[in-house]
Amino acid sequence: MYVALERRTTVRVLGIAGSPRKNGNTDMLLAEFIRGAASKGATTKTIFLRDLQISTCQHCDACLKAGICKIKDEMQGVYADLQEADVIVLASPVQFTGVTAHMKAMIDRTQSLWAKKYVLKLPPLGDKRPRKGFFISTGGRKVPNLFDPMLVMIKTFFHIIDVKYTGDLVYAGVDEKGAIAKHPEALKQAYEAGQRLAEDPPKTE
Ligand SMILES: Cc1cc2nc3c(=O)[nH]c(=O)nc-3n(C[C@H](O)[C@H](O)[C@H](O)COP(=O)(O)O)c2cc1C
Repeated sequence: MYVALERRTTVRVLGIAGSPRKNGNTDMLLAEFIRGAASKGATTKTIFLRDLQISTCQHCDACLKAGICKIKDEMQGVYADLQEADVIVLASPVQFTGVTAHMKAMIDRTQSLWAKKYVLKLPPLGDKRPRKGFFISTGGRKVPNLFDPMLVMIKTFFHIIDVKYTGDLVYAGVDEKGAIAKHPEALKQAYEAGQRLAEDPPKTE
């Protein structure tokens, strides 16, 4: 009976924006993704890492004891948001071939979730509910393999927190603020990806 009461009726989609640039290219793509998900009835939330005070990981190893990070800053809210979500979409531009410092700080702080999973043998996000992950990026240069280094990191991140990686949308040769608007196909693809993930909620395999 309690199970029925607690059963989710809508998919919860969490967007995490990693760009330091407000309303820039990845913000625009993420907004379309979220708009697409909402159009299919998903409950959505977007957090902008540039607005949060998130310290870098201190490698103090305190998290190895209970899987809890001892740094009490705004990352505590992000842990709760990750746990709540069914779909997690990260958006970060390429910076020096990697994700932004904001995104990297957030990812590194999930070392406590790594500890939960690999040291304490607990579900990293607190339960075994299936979750799906997606990634969005833009980069100014137009070179082959531009996104490869970030994709390794993003896939590793999702793997560690037990979130199934379901794909990405990455656009090279997009540099000035708002340049993505000159690629309406890209915005449409982001909207449709949001719709798809909201329509096809994570399932236990
Ligand atoms: C500090 C910094 C480093 C960057 N490094 C790269 C890079 O290594 N490769 C690249 O293609 N573009 C690089 N760019 C360009 C951004 O990836 C590009 O402008 C992107 O579209 C910005 O997205 P945003 O508007 O969402 O911030 C860099 C930009 C900044 C500010």
